[in-house]
Amino acid sequence: MLHATDIAGAGSPYVVVIGNEKGGSGKTTLAMHLAIALLKGGHRVGTIDLDSNQRGLTRYIENRRIWANHRRIELELPLHGFVPRAGGARLEDNEAEELAAFEDIVCDVRKFVDFLVIDTPSTDTYLMRLAHLVADTVLTPVADSFLDLGTLASIDPITHEVTGTGHYAEMVCEARRHRRVFDQGGTDWVVIRNRSARGGLVRGSVAELGIRLGLRDIEGCAERIVYRQFFAAGLTALDALDEAALGAATGRSHQLAQREIGKLVGLLNLPTSERARRRAAARKEWFASSGAPLGVDELLTE
Ligand SMILES: Nc1ncnc2c1ncn2[C@@H]1O[C@H](COP(=O)(O)OP(=O)(O)O)[C@@H](O)[C@H]1O
Ligand SMILES: [Mg+2]
Repeated sequence: MLHATDIAGAGSPYVVVIGNEKGGSGKTTLAMHLAIALLKGGHRVGTIDLDSNQRGLTRYIENRRIWANHRRIELELPLHGFVPRAGGARLEDNEAEELAAFEDIVCDVRKFVDFLVIDTPSTDTYLMRLAHLVADTVLTPVADSFLDLGTLASIDPITHEVTGTGHYAEMVCEARRHRRVFDQGGTDWVVIRNRSARGGLVRGSVAELGIRLGLRDIEGCAERIVYRQFFAAGLTALDALDEAALGAATGRSHQLAQREIGKLVGLLNLPTSERARRRAAARKEWFASSGAPLGVDELLTE
């Protein structure tokens, strides 16, 4: 059985889990951008895709690998693992099979990475709950809409005050409680307000929720078409915005996206190290002096 300390103990990777039971809230986009931001910062990064139906992060990373080969450019890739869905008749057997697959991936990557970024599905699954138990940081992107806020809170229709805790928020609170009891570990929970309307519709309610549940909220990404365009080539706002990478001239929205993602990642307060900074500088130098494509066969499992 995997314990929180197996991957959250001393010398183990720092675990960032991206979760929200609302589909389309931007989890996979954020997971990919965070992984690439950390890689560019010189960290060693592992990613795990727990969304066995959509496989969004797995496809995103695979697209990046294919695109890098196609364009003969250097693109950083994380060590990636995907947990396939067990299709047996018995729920317990399926959970055991999926847990074993998850444990295998964690064991394979944990010694080689500083960060583990785990993307979760928009449904309440066994592995999604387990991931929240071992998280050092939980990131919850939420669109600026009271409808979408329902996974976190129920809201008074007139005053917009928080009247109750949503299903996903209950689950995160429970995971944090368990984690505290189990190894006295704290989980930083950050709600990321994405695609904000002017002034922010849900801002006040999220701030109130923050005080009630002990989470912090930060401004996320604006609504930009470029985020949808990046996926096909496996690119992110953080990649060099030149013709070589994109196959097309870059626009202003790319630059704005790059700036907002940089700011967002900075606000997460993830642990960074001097060693990572040195590694980032060395890698930059190596990239600049080498014409050869990066070894991009780093995907651990399908
Ligand atoms: N800031 C944004 N602006 C515009 N489109 C976005 C933004 N963030 C994500 N998207 C798009 O929204 C859709 C859902 O995003 P995704 O990251 O897959 O969400 P989730 O993983 O929570 O289901 C995708 O088509 C994605 O490209
Ligand atoms: Mg997703």
